[in-house]
Amino acid sequence: MNAPAELAKVLATAPDATHGYKSFTLGSFTFRRDEYFAHISWKTRDGRPLSHTMDAGNFLRALMRDVAWGFFYGWVNFDHVLGTVNKYTSVDLYAGSYNATMKEAGVDLLENFPTEQIRATFEQMLDDWTNASFDPFSAPQETGTPYGRKNGNNTAKITRERELAKRCVGMKGDLPLRTDARGAPINRAFADVPQNEPELHPEPGFENEVHAFNLFGFLSRSQVTWNPSFTSVVKYSFMCPTTEEHILPIIHGNDRVEWFFQMCDEIHWDCADKNTGKPLARVIMKAGDMAAMPAYCRHQGYSPKRSMLLVWENGSPTLVYEIEKGQSPEVPVKF
Ligand code: PHB
Ligand code: FE
Repeated sequence: MNAPAELAKVLATAPDATHGYKSFTLGSFTFRRDEYFAHISWKTRDGRPLSHTMDAGNFLRALMRDVAWGFFYGWVNFDHVLGTVNKYTSVDLYAGSYNATMKEAGVDLLENFPTEQIRATFEQMLDDWTNASFDPFSAPQETGTPYGRKNGNNTAKITRERELAKRCVGMKGDLPLRTDARGAPINRAFADVPQNEPELHPEPGFENEVHAFNLFGFLSRSQVTWNPSFTSVVKYSFMCPTTEEHILPIIHGNDRVEWFFQMCDEIHWDCADKNTGKPLARVIMKAGDMAAMPAYCRHQGYSPKRSMLLVWENGSPTLVYEIEKGQSPEVPVKF
């Protein structure tokens, strides 16, 4: 076992003389960016060199989610080739391993890393490759270009703290409501969302026990897209509302059932087999619709207008192992 300092050591080159970006090595994988693209190279299982190219903006939007969410639940596919699987104390990094064609051809590679090592490498790569003009959490219409030669950093925007309420947003000592003096502006797409707060009439002595707030008003002021915030946590039941615009930057592969409640506008989902990528379903969700994503699928959403989505997660740390052993179902209901 390596010492922690050793694990957090990041293998990076000096900035490239032409475009100014560093390259990074993680095990047998190397990551390089230029003005338009991220290039990932590895040696295939049978020893041949192979590479994969992604648009720099798409790569950084996916990398941002993987870093901010601590590798999330299960699979974070950056696209149909590259991604990570969270093993909760370690992380698999793969190219082609969950792409049926590449797997069959033997040109895939999967390597496991201690979480600290891959986190440190991904954080430094994200910081080096994100220019001052680009915020990977913003909707494309609300940020500048990811392209071009290295031009500053945007460290403040890529190290936002996750919003985690202790008891209830707006309660004394908890997260502030965004509608107060410290609040954020209402997003252009949510100008029609009523901002009035609910009336509260707690019995005397219960003023600090009873609380409510206008979730639509709260979300209308969200500055970011595709970033579920924990708004309520009851045991392992996590209510994670979020505002969505354009494309979910990752293709999420479930290791458990996950629920979606479309709170306004609409999102179109592509669902596929999580192991092969074979298409399974199109799910068109309109305001008021609910859907469950089974544990065997991967999914990516398209939100034509900024919309509000409630993601409901089961955060039980034992669930993934119960599903693997067949003790918990992969689907929410059997008909
Ligand atoms: C998901 O993968 O289920 C997901 C992730 C981020 C979101 C919404 C859904 O904002
Ligand atoms: Fe998901």
